[in-house]
Order: sequence, then structure tokens, then C-alpha cells
Amino acid sequence: MLSAEAVDLAYGSTLAVRGAQLSVRCGEVVAISGQSGSGKSSLLYCLAGVMPASRGIIRFEGRPLGGFGDEELSALRRDRFGFVFQYGELLPELTIEENTALPLRLAGQRKREAHAVAGEVLGRLGLGDLRQRRPSQVSGGQSQRVAVARALVHRPAVVFADEPTGSLDSANATAVLEEFLALARSQGTAVVLVTHDPAVADRADSRYTMTDGTLTAAQVGV
Ligand SMILES: Nc1ncnc2c1ncn2[C@@H]1O[C@H](COP(=O)(O)OP(=O)(O)O)[C@@H](O)[C@H]1O
Ligand SMILES: [Mg+2]
Repeated sequence: MLSAEAVDLAYGSTLAVRGAQLSVRCGEVVAISGQSGSGKSSLLYCLAGVMPASRGIIRFEGRPLGGFGDEELSALRRDRFGFVFQYGELLPELTIEENTALPLRLAGQRKREAHAVAGEVLGRLGLGDLRQRRPSQVSGGQSQRVAVARALVHRPAVVFADEPTGSLDSANATAVLEEFLALARSQGTAVVLVTHDPAVADRADSRYTMTDGTLTAAQVGV
């Protein structure tokens, strides 16, 4: 579904990603670990079409991202991809339900239908009672789960998660990740997950390590 062939990403003279090879199947969960500054976020931005690769080819459903026009690439990111970031990044002025429904509203769905689907996904994550609250009125763990709901609400083909539980304690982080992976798996969504947590990486189908820009497949079970 998604692949990278010999992908480099350079910021000026800094080569943040060096020759990355990766292939993600439908419904697969891929975990990428590595030290801070090793290039994990940079690789994710390339894979998600947020930044163009300096060299190499990223393909989505067989098609090189380099061949997508700007509008087509925005539509791809909006409709087929989902994103969860380290701090959740909900919009403070919107309710939990409005935040969750956003990808559907951006795709042109009517408010009533979008909110019905958002309410259902929030319910599956145990957040049904919080729908009318604002992000400032829920806990850190709850807002991370809302970010998960928002990333999956439009049943994207791929979700990119960049240290999605970075702001949580480890018990909460594991709980959020469990829900995230269960929902993704039940929808057949592929997940590319950057995580520091070995317990989380253990739950992935494939594991990679990033070291100074170089991506290496890690042995599962080690
Ligand atoms: N916008 C940028 N401009 C220049 N250098 C950057 C930029 N973003 C990241 N870098 C550098 O690229 C390298 C990889 O960064 P990053 O992908 O954020 O690593 P990680 O997510 O593993 O912490 C680091 O050396 C970082 O300083
Ligand atoms: Mg990072």
C-alpha cells in the first residue's frame, strides 16, 4: 500500500533520512524507534507527503507521490491519511465532537452525518460523555484518545502517528495505544507509528530502528 525506495531527506546540508527502504501492507502496524534527532519525524513527513523526498521514491497504492499535483496531494492527505501527533493538537475552540468530525467535514460530509459517525467512534473509545466539552475541559489522556478518534474517523488507508502518547504516563500511554491499534485493526487501517516505548513497539507487526538517518529492520521478538 505504501512504500519507500532509497529515500533521502535533506535540510540544507543535514541529511536527516538516508536511503530509507520500507514497505507497509494494508492493515499492517509498523513501529519505528530511535533516539531523538535520528530522523524519525522526517521520515514520517516524507511518507505522508508532507515534505517531498530529496531523493528516492515514495509510492502510495503503487503511484509515486512525486507524480501527484499539489491539490491531489492535499486531497490524498485529507481523505486517505490520518495523523496523530505527540500532543494531540486538538482545536481549542471546537468541541470534542467537532474536533473528531473535522476530517469528515473537510471531505464534504454534512454536519449531521459527520457528527453521528464521530459520536460513534468516540463511543468506541469510551469518550461518548465528553462530546460537548472543549479540549481544555478534558484530561491529557482523554484528549489523546480524541486525537486517535479524529485520525481514524474517516477510515483512512494509513494513519501516521508521531510519538502519539509522548505527553502521557506509561500506563495511560499503553491504554491509548491499545485502543488505537484495536480500532485501526478492526478497520484495516495501516499504521506507521513512531514510538520510544518498547512495550508498544512489541505490539507492531514490523519494527524498525532509526540511527543517524538510517532505517534498519529490527528483529521481531528481540
Ligand atoms: N526543519 C528542519 N531544518 C533543519 N534541520 C532539521 C529540521 N527538522 C529536523 N532537522 C534535523 O534533522 C534531523 C532529524 O530530525 P527529526 O526527524 O526531527 O528526528 P526525530 O524525529 O528522530 O527526533 C536532526 O538532526 C534535526 O536537527
Ligand atoms: Mg520526532
